[in-house]
Amino acid sequence: MQIITLIVLLLFCKVSEFRKVRRNNDKPHSSKKISSTVKRYAPGLPCDTYTYHNEKYLDCQEKKQTSVLQDWPEDLIHILLARNQIRILKNNAFSKFQNLKTLDLQQNELRKIEKQAFFGLKKLSTLLLQHNRIKTLSEEVFIHMPRLTYLRLYENPWDCNCELESLVTLLQIPRNRNFGNYAKCESPVELKNQKLKEITPQVICQEEDDKPKPLEGTKPSRPSVDSTLCYTYLYPITTLDCRRKELQQVPDDISSDVIKLDLSNNKIKRLKSKEFKDVSNLEILNLSNNRIESIDPAAFSGLMNLQELDLSENNLSNFQYGVLEDLYFLKKLWLRDNPWRCDYNIHYLFYWLRHHYNVNYNGLECKAPEEYKGWFVGKYVRSYYEECPNERYQVHIGVDDDEWEQTEGAKTNSKQTDSSAKRGVLLTVLS
Ligand SMILES: *[C@@H]1O[C@H](CO)[C@@H](O)[C@H](O)[C@H]1NC(C)=O
Ligand SMILES: *[C@@H]1O[C@H](CO)[C@@H](O)[C@H](O)[C@H]1NC(C)=O
Repeated sequence: MQIITLIVLLLFCKVSEFRKVRRNNDKPHSSKKISSTVKRYAPGLPCDTYTYHNEKYLDCQEKKQTSVLQDWPEDLIHILLARNQIRILKNNAFSKFQNLKTLDLQQNELRKIEKQAFFGLKKLSTLLLQHNRIKTLSEEVFIHMPRLTYLRLYENPWDCNCELESLVTLLQIPRNRNFGNYAKCESPVELKNQKLKEITPQVICQEEDDKPKPLEGTKPSRPSVDSTLCYTYLYPITTLDCRRKELQQVPDDISSDVIKLDLSNNKIKRLKSKEFKDVSNLEILNLSNNRIESIDPAAFSGLMNLQELDLSENNLSNFQYGVLEDLYFLKKLWLRDNPWRCDYNIHYLFYWLRHHYNVNYNGLECKAPEEYKGWFVGKYVRSYYEECPNERYQVHIGVDDDEWEQTEGAKTNSKQTDSSAKRGVLLTVLS
């Protein structure tokens, strides 16, 4: 509690200190009034606004600007930002300038334009991006500008690979005759100096395929197993049905909104670390009737929402320590028809289940060794301690609820202590 109070105080100090600094910096310039000169922004030079034929211009050419500023007046019709040092356009950079018709960004250092950078520019008709450092751009960037008729893209080092396909296609639509007319590929070598307007979109994708470079969806480390064989159902819950697909591993491209994943009746042998890390919304996971013989302790990591896990009809003889630790909300666990081996290694599973009494499970029955065959695992574990009353064997296994909560608390606390330590240093510097 004390720690938290301290942090809040320190944060507060930091914020007010920051404000003070800003205010001092702003003082020499009037920040609110915009007449003919827009106020100065470090490190750029002042920009001019003027009205010509009833249309408002912002002339900010060659002013060492490095970003688009939100203090520029909203009713601008033309923004001239040529010959500055802008490198990136962030999402919504222009969304307040809804009347904008012209945006001149030529001769900057643009490398990256975020997908929503031009969001809100419904009236924009002219966009000048020539002489920058853009290598790739998706068609998506342009969907926010339905009135766009002039687009300049030349003198950018276009990398003509698959990623550029949607842009190339867009430029080639007949209606867009004034889009990117002189833009040329810089790379790959085979396509150098070819005009984007003239290359066949399919060709640039093929080129990429031939290269050993990793592509989206194919990870060279694993042979790609894709989920396109599976069926997706949206009702009643988003389900990916991969039953009976001869799969030997968990597909690595499962959409993150899947709630139920059915991988039953396949040939999966092992579950690797973080196998389900991209499907954190999963609530039901069916791995029944596979050949699973080993599960990495971190295989289920990230499955915070998992409620039902079916592991019946596999080749499991025990669980390694840790396998179940991430399954905070598990309610049902199917374990039947596995060759559970009743020796010391099964204790983890048994104790975990005993301490997580909200979890309903079934099928935990010894198949080996011969002497315990047909026993429930619980009976075996009890007999183990009857045979060995000597306490030294009673290593505590599993985590009970209390301990779990304590470790969680300790984690959070240590995080806070870390950050408060940092803030403490900050405070010393400022005061
Ligand atoms: C898992 O799949 C098997 C076979 O397809 C089915 O019999 C079983 O009921 C399923 N388990 C769950 C929890 O839905
Ligand atoms: C089950 O796993 C064991 C190793 O633990 C292996 O020897 C055996 O062949 C597996 N059985 C099947 C049916 O895959």
